[in-house]
Amino acid sequence: MNNEILVAENVTKIYGIDTKNPVTALSDVSLTMYESDFICVMGPSGSGKSTFINNLSTIDIPTKGKVFINDQEVRTMGENEVGKFRY
Ligand SMILES: Nc1ncnc2c1ncn2[C@@H]1O[C@H](COP(=O)(O)OP(=O)(O)OP(=O)(O)O)[C@@H](O)[C@H]1O
Ligand SMILES: [Mg+2]
Repeated sequence: MNNEILVAENVTKIYGIDTKNPVTALSDVSLTMYESDFICVMGPSGSGKSTFINNLSTIDIPTKGKVFINDQEVRTMGENEVGKFRY
C-alpha cells in the first residue's frame, strides 16, 4: 500500500536543443504517483501532455530531470527492462 510506483523529478524536455529554434515543452515538472492512483493530465493543445506522458513512460528521455519507475531511474534501465515495462 502507498508504494511510490512512478516519480518524476524536475522533468524538462527541450526539443531541438541543438537547433536555432529549441522548444521547451516541459519545464521542471515533478509528480509522484502511488499504487492505485488514477490521474488525468489536462491542458490546452501544445501544453505538453503527450510529451509528459512519453517521458513518464520510457518512450522518450527527459533533457533534464529524472523519472523513476518502481524506484529505478529510467535512464539506468537496460533495453530488456524497458521492453518488459512497456509490454
Ligand atoms: N517532436 C517534436 N519536435 C519539436 N517540437 C515538438 C515535438 N513534439 C512536440 N513539440 C512541441 O512541444 C510542445 C508540446 O507538445 P505536445 O504534443 O506535448 O502537447 P499536447 O499537450 O500533447 O498537445 P495536443 O493536445 O495537441 O495533443 C508544443 O509546442 C509542440 O509544438
Ligand atoms: Mg498530445
